[in-house]
Amino acid sequence: MVEISLPKNSQVKEGKTWPKPEGATNLREFRIYRWSPDDDENPSIDTYYVDMDDCGPMVLDGLLYIKNKIDPTLTLRRSCREGICGSCAMNIDGSNTLACIKGMDEISNSIKVYPLPHMPVVKDLVPDLTVPYAQLTSIQPWLQTVSPEPAKEWLQSHEDRQKLDGLYECILCFCCQTSCPSYWWNGDRYLGPAVLLQAYRWLIDSRDEATGERLDNLEDPFRLYRCHTIMNCAQTCPKGLNPAKAIAEIKKMMVERRV
Ligand code: SF4
Ligand code: SF4
Ligand code: FES
Repeated sequence: MVEISLPKNSQVKEGKTWPKPEGATNLREFRIYRWSPDDDENPSIDTYYVDMDDCGPMVLDGLLYIKNKIDPTLTLRRSCREGICGSCAMNIDGSNTLACIKGMDEISNSIKVYPLPHMPVVKDLVPDLTVPYAQLTSIQPWLQTVSPEPAKEWLQSHEDRQKLDGLYECILCFCCQTSCPSYWWNGDRYLGPAVLLQAYRWLIDSRDEATGERLDNLEDPFRLYRCHTIMNCAQTCPKGLNPAKAIAEIKKMMVERRV
């Protein structure tokens, strides 16, 4: 996985070191970013110790151990704990990934956990995703048709259905979006890899009848063309998807419709 340099913030202070669990002999050290809108003493990095004999194997297990047994104020998002909801995306050991499928045994030394980089923070490990969700809405990620509605369902051939492979699996965790240097610098105008992968998912869907309008919506120097094929997105996606390839396919569709 690609190593992502987190924003250098000289204001990040050494925070509190929490007591080790009593009697524990098998410990892992966690170093966790803390920020609260209600605290003047932040951001800081707090140190915690997890008793591995009383905890599951994933980074999310460690974070929940800390929240449930040491410090209930630690704030994070999670839901499915099996890599399908996308809510536990965070920066772990220098890479954006899902805490629930990242094994602690994949990390040597202390386990460093930050929120997804280059996003405003709501609290601790929770990023503010208002902008990427608004960008997602702007590409209208739903089936659009003009033909009369079929009695039962919109049909699709097996071959056309296969064109959605590598796209429909996206869980919108935004690991790729927040690993993309172009998005870091132009996130207000560039749609970013997660949103563009979704855009391509609808462009390539044989049932959709708004392809022209969808391409018109992307024809802009920033919304699509700020991708410089740096490939951080493909390297960091925890589902093994390739947003850069989807973006390249959209650019190809743009060229093909001009000839
Ligand atoms: S390939 Fe494009 S979208 Fe992916 S990280 Fe690079 S600039 Fe961003
Ligand atoms: S493409 Fe991968 S990293 Fe990007 S939002 Fe979808 S699942 Fe997450
Ligand atoms: S908790 Fe759902 S993806 Fe991690």
